[in-house]
Amino acid sequence: MDYTNNIYFLNDGDLVILGENSITFYDKDLNKIEKNVEVITWNSNAADKGSFDTFMLKEINEQPNSIRETIGTRIVPNQKCDFSDIHISKEYLSDITRIYIVACGTAMYAGIAVKPIFERLTGIPTEVDVASEFRYREPLIDSRTLIICISQSGETADTIAALKNAKANGSKTIAVTNVIGSSITREADFTLLTHAGPEIAVASTKAYTSQVTLLALLAIHFAEVLELPKGDMINNLKDEILELPSKVSIVLDNTDVIRDFAKKIYKESDVFFVGRGIDYAVAMEASLKLKEVSYIHSESYQSGELKHGPIALIENGFTVVGIMTDRRLVDKSISNLQEVISRGAKTLIITNQDIDKNLFPTVFSVPKVHPLLSAVLSVIPLQLLAYYVAVEKGLDVDKPRNLAKSVTVE
Ligand code: G6P
Repeated sequence: MDYTNNIYFLNDGDLVILGENSITFYDKDLNKIEKNVEVITWNSNAADKGSFDTFMLKEINEQPNSIRETIGTRIVPNQKCDFSDIHISKEYLSDITRIYIVACGTAMYAGIAVKPIFERLTGIPTEVDVASEFRYREPLIDSRTLIICISQSGETADTIAALKNAKANGSKTIAVTNVIGSSITREADFTLLTHAGPEIAVASTKAYTSQVTLLALLAIHFAEVLELPKGDMINNLKDEILELPSKVSIVLDNTDVIRDFAKKIYKESDVFFVGRGIDYAVAMEASLKLKEVSYIHSESYQSGELKHGPIALIENGFTVVGIMTDRRLVDKSISNLQEVISRGAKTLIITNQDIDKNLFPTVFSVPKVHPLLSAVLSVIPLQLLAYYVAVEKGLDVDKPRNLAKSVTVE
């Protein structure tokens, strides 16, 4: 960004001859072609660390703003959400039989966190699939299947291939990406931009919360297009989405509990993350984050599954992180977590419920929020947990070993 904000985007197979004062483009058949220069509006401050030691910490702290930018002007007072950048009709939505959300890594976990929102608001069965599996498993898709591909970079090879397969089968495709002009935007029928600003740290943080927010808005848009009777639910959700940035700021305000817990566990070799419903979706993302940046082996489980095997591994001092934000399920989760405590586990609880603090030695509270949006808040302390553990271990958090920011090969 310090050198230029003028960009020419190339399609697969394009050739370029750069001369001292000239630039000539050819397509894959060697026909000379003209390209328009595009101007990137991100400024170079967005791509430096500012006052932070690392990009990861900067990006975690940017989330109030990145979520605000993602919401942008989509929520219009007393009107339907503005999604004039895509054209999805009531007839089309009424006719489709399934939505597939397809992505890799953190983007895929964002998909898992929003699946319940799509199903609750639209009544359309919604599946989430890993792009590298989806592209080869011959999924049952056709013109009555909508494919939503999520990719922060817009360059992930498997996600782009999955999208191309879906198109070849007659499905409509929507790309959700953070990068204007990225490859996926040139393949998809429609593109939605998350506007989270450049994400430099390899471990994705602000892109995840922006993806969840934007997809929640998209599900609301679908419900509005379908004109389904949802009572006050849609308006409540919109109000709650508008409050997310300030609630994220509250979470970021005092994170000493998380830093102290990181100091307690950084020498451990295994950590479990458990939750139910959307809390389980967050457990999966939290587990990925910890293993990516701290190299600690971690697993995520549905709390109810602990008894079906994983509890055999719990012994004195084993670390278990429990996420409990779903009021309907909190009592069940408490009893699951009590079982691991009675076997000597060290626990960290992330909750927005008024649970008896005497039950658990370490509780981090997040603000109350609509249950369908809880992932946006409860993931933040767990991004920080991964960060602080990696810092305690003296690791390079922005560039973890063996990982790439953008996986452009299979
Ligand atoms: C890599 C990155 C992850 C990211 C995944 C998907 O594995 O290290 O942080 O979640 O790719 O990337 P995408 O750009 O498609 O969201």
